[in-house]
Amino acid sequence: MRITDKHEAFYREHGYAIVENFCTPSELQDALQNFDKVMPGWVDFANNPSGPKPRYYDKPFPDQRGIPHFPYPENALNDLTFHPELRRFATLMGDGEEMYCEQSHLSYKASGQRDFEQAMHMDYSNHSLAYPPDVPKYWQTAYLYYFTDVTLESGPTAVCSKQHYPERILVPPYHTRESRPEIYDHEVKVTCPAGSLLIYGMRTFHRGTAITGDNHGRLGMFVTYAPKACRWMGIVGWPVSAGKREFRDWIEQASVEDRTAIGFPEPGHDYWTQETLDGVAGRYPGMDMTPYEMQK
Ligand SMILES: [Fe+2]
Repeated sequence: MRITDKHEAFYREHGYAIVENFCTPSELQDALQNFDKVMPGWVDFANNPSGPKPRYYDKPFPDQRGIPHFPYPENALNDLTFHPELRRFATLMGDGEEMYCEQSHLSYKASGQRDFEQAMHMDYSNHSLAYPPDVPKYWQTAYLYYFTDVTLESGPTAVCSKQHYPERILVPPYHTRESRPEIYDHEVKVTCPAGSLLIYGMRTFHRGTAITGDNHGRLGMFVTYAPKACRWMGIVGWPVSAGKREFRDWIEQASVEDRTAIGFPEPGHDYWTQETLDGVAGRYPGMDMTPYEMQK
């Protein structure tokens, strides 16, 4: 297991964990190649931000929230989104609850682009309509892959151990340096080699920090899992993208398990009737409907 018992123990105690070199060298290489396919020029640019500025350097990407989202063309980033370890650990933290992937989007930052300094915050402010209790059944697990080395200069994520905010109710989900200095004083800047993974949650204070100097870049991908039963959670709604050609292509060729992981009705669900089988098959002509037919 790439997320070890030690990572788990640290996560339970502090609300975050860093898994250095989570990706194998070939997964990292494929992820970078795939990144370049989605965001042409960004891999070179992150390595050398003095070079020509790539597309979307100063314009939003034409996708949900102005950022490239799942499904990505080619497989490497999709595969990392659904990496079995991410699902296993999210399910473990959820005490066996079935999980779905509520977020997968890319992160790309470079010197000079803008100021990336954020205030300390918790992500439940845009991942939940309600409030994240300290209860496994309702636990969302957030991951941030880093595809480039993260140094102190390249805008490391800062996280603060939950030991420094032990109060029962964590409202508001953000604090300035003035309103809660100790959260900033005890922050840890996540520096790590390319291919590493940060694990955190909706009850973890963290923030993006500024890229300093004029020659640094950082590429990554956010992936979050939430209990499938909790419709009040999630940063995006996948159906809004379902009309896109690449999304339909992904639905058609995905495994049943991966489809289920974005909230698609699973085989055996009451939803499946002759009408829905025919309707879904009509909408996605390339999809193998057998697993849904067999277990209805
Ligand atoms: Fe955040």
